[in-house]
Amino acid sequence: HKHMLGTYGMSAEEITSILDRAAYWEQSPAKLSNHLQGRFVANMFFENSTRTRFSFEVAEKRLGAEVLNFTAGVSSVQKGESIYDTVKTLESMGVEAGVIRLKPNGVLAELADKIKIPLINAGDGNNEHPTQALLDLYTMRKHFGELRGLNVSIIGDILHSRVARSNLWALQAVGAKVSFCAPAAMQAPELAAHAPYISMDEAIRSDVVMMLRVQLERHAEADGMLQTTEEYREAFGLTMQREATMASHAIIMHPAPVNRNVEIDDELVECARSKIFEQMGNGVPIRMAVIERALA
Ligand code: CP
Repeated sequence: HKHMLGTYGMSAEEITSILDRAAYWEQSPAKLSNHLQGRFVANMFFENSTRTRFSFEVAEKRLGAEVLNFTAGVSSVQKGESIYDTVKTLESMGVEAGVIRLKPNGVLAELADKIKIPLINAGDGNNEHPTQALLDLYTMRKHFGELRGLNVSIIGDILHSRVARSNLWALQAVGAKVSFCAPAAMQAPELAAHAPYISMDEAIRSDVVMMLRVQLERHAEADGMLQTTEEYREAFGLTMQREATMASHAIIMHPAPVNRNVEIDDELVECARSKIFEQMGNGVPIRMAVIERALA
């Protein structure tokens, strides 16, 4: 089975081979190849997406695959059909691999056990988003040349972030050093044993300053933001003032979508050291490498 459910447990060699294959595809002059000609791949998004969904579609089309896009909102999920029955339905039609994004935690592993085709996790709850982490590592490696020894600070809503978790496991596997920075209400207690929580002043001195979106939709009214967005920006936002104190070689990352002027100032989103739109572009070759691996 060639599932990709997470970066947890992936070896440095596995990660490096995906990054190297992505570099091959990025450098390939041809926009289209016939590598996966006649192979059917389904993108199954049970939760909203712009970047992940479209970069998987571009990646699949560049590889010459036949692409089916399933969107829960216009499917029989609306009649109560389960995720398992939906995926089994596509499998029965000859789909050979599925890219899947799910709202709940803990459903994907069980699903992957029961489904014969390889599944690629495009984000499941706050558990993992492995292809996001791989494209983030790819972006860092392109900039710095080497991942080992790099200091990466992940700042913001760690509690609800599958991006933080996938980056933590992948970065540690390749020898980078990860730190978190978050207000108390957004810290994930189970991750404290894996990476230290540091102050904002310390976090912005890292080689990589990775900002996370405040996931307003995942904060139930009961748990509350505890802060207004302006208070959040003051305490944990990457403001112009803070950016001025970053090391000259340091870069800014964010998986996007961005809440401008909440976790990052509007002026910084496209500043010289920001990799935010480059990250999105790097999603295509990374996902080409991941789809190819699934169907190998
Ligand atoms: N970064 C990311 O996963 O974006 P989407 O939710 O738009 O796919």
